[in-house]
Amino acid sequence: IADIKGGPDQGLNRLGENLVVRGWVRTLRVQSSVTFIEVNDGSCLSNMQCVISSDAEGYDQVESGLISTGAAVWVQGTIVASQGSKQKVELNVDKLVTVGTSDPSFPIQKKRVSREFLRTKAHLRPRTNTFGAVSRVRNALAYATHKFFQENGFVWLSSPIITASDCEGAGEQFCVTTLLPLEQVPTSREATDSPVNAIPRTKDGLIDWSQDFFGKPAFLTVSGQLNAETYATALTDVYTFGPTFRAENSNTSRHLAEFWMIEPELAFADLEDDMACATAYLQYVVEYILENCKEDMDFFNTWIEKGIIARLSDVVEKRFVQLSYTDAVEILLKAKKTFEFPVTWGCDLQSEHERYITEEVFSGCPVIIRDYPKDIKAFYMRQNDDGKTVAAMDMLVPRVGELIGGSQREERLEYLEQRLDDLKLNKESYWWYLDLRRYGSVPHAGFGLGFERLVQFATGIDNIRDAIPFPRAPGSAEF
Ligand code: 4AD
Ligand code: MG
Repeated sequence: IADIKGGPDQGLNRLGENLVVRGWVRTLRVQSSVTFIEVNDGSCLSNMQCVISSDAEGYDQVESGLISTGAAVWVQGTIVASQGSKQKVELNVDKLVTVGTSDPSFPIQKKRVSREFLRTKAHLRPRTNTFGAVSRVRNALAYATHKFFQENGFVWLSSPIITASDCEGAGEQFCVTTLLPLEQVPTSREATDSPVNAIPRTKDGLIDWSQDFFGKPAFLTVSGQLNAETYATALTDVYTFGPTFRAENSNTSRHLAEFWMIEPELAFADLEDDMACATAYLQYVVEYILENCKEDMDFFNTWIEKGIIARLSDVVEKRFVQLSYTDAVEILLKAKKTFEFPVTWGCDLQSEHERYITEEVFSGCPVIIRDYPKDIKAFYMRQNDDGKTVAAMDMLVPRVGELIGGSQREERLEYLEQRLDDLKLNKESYWWYLDLRRYGSVPHAGFGLGFERLVQFATGIDNIRDAIPFPRAPGSAEF
């Protein structure tokens, strides 16, 4: 359908052509002489209006009620100019075949249904306009991501999902465990010495879930960054694009337990290079969808967030604001507004602060905040000369808040070791990471972008659970 209706004249150049459309019935209107079936195949937002008169082969299927909303059909006909005002062309049907009927209980009928309701129907929601459009734009953003990095000489890297290290040091990891038949589960920690993959138990009988990757602790990765650093210090510029996991029990519209992250890592690069890369990347992918997903973007502009196209066009054209954490704190302290969380130098910025800065102070422009206090940031960030801050940056965008978190990495062995000691992290377990500072260490930097937050930003969808096909968050792992 996209092939026919996607052109500038929306199919008028294809008049008279014979066509087969396969898809799912969105609506059915039976009139005395003809029947209109709107068919959608997911290739675009538009349906193909199929006009069936009583002499068409298969018309009996309409009469007998076989065709209803949700049914799968195969329709053959001729492209003709449409009398209706909603479309330029329609299909004059010669032959109709019902491929799969749809039970009357099909839950997504023509009337508008809430996105909360659709979350309970995650298997059927891709058949709605909103989720069709979100899926196509998500796909385009993924494609544009690879295109951007490939065109700029980055090598794509698959970082492992199972890992022993906690990149962010925040303890928000899911443990990996092996299921055993009950009779093989040892009841005490001692009993784990023999079968390597047994689920160990503590003496009080609790299962020690953290010990079970064939006898060693292993977790689902929170970030591929540390692995990306190893490849950046060999291939220069690399990026990961894969699933990451956070065991945060937070029920917000911006957090998922499983989300996709894009993590570029650049060697021979500092924080300036990192911010420039993040800016160029965001502008590139946003421009890509504005150019290539026009119909879906128009849909979001009308139904999801009025003005989103203008907002995104600004992102492509405007310079992003940059300010230091210290300046951001100044601005917040001077704000004529009371925040739920009061601001002091050294505090972590909350989403109310981020929203105030991006939405009220800089009215809708992405803002990069840099040089955060070292005490609120991860161990691997490079210490600034002031001894108090690190070369970190967060990119904040309106509606979403933090879209990107990145930094220049600490490439000096003695500083990094000191930092691990200060944070009481186990230096031995980072031996390979420290090796990178022993053998040909270089200044390097990178960032992580939460892909679902990008989808939110680019579509106006307000809940992150609607920006991923099957959201994983507290209470949702059914589908
Ligand atoms: O700021 P974060 O925690 O940074 C890192 O993980 C770094 N290791 C990245 C790097 O430098 N390579 O996460 C990066 C981004 C955030 O800015 C946010 O967009 C997203 O990942 N993110 C989440 N998205 C959805 N649900 C969650 N629970 C998220 N946690 C982080
Ligand atoms: Mg962060």
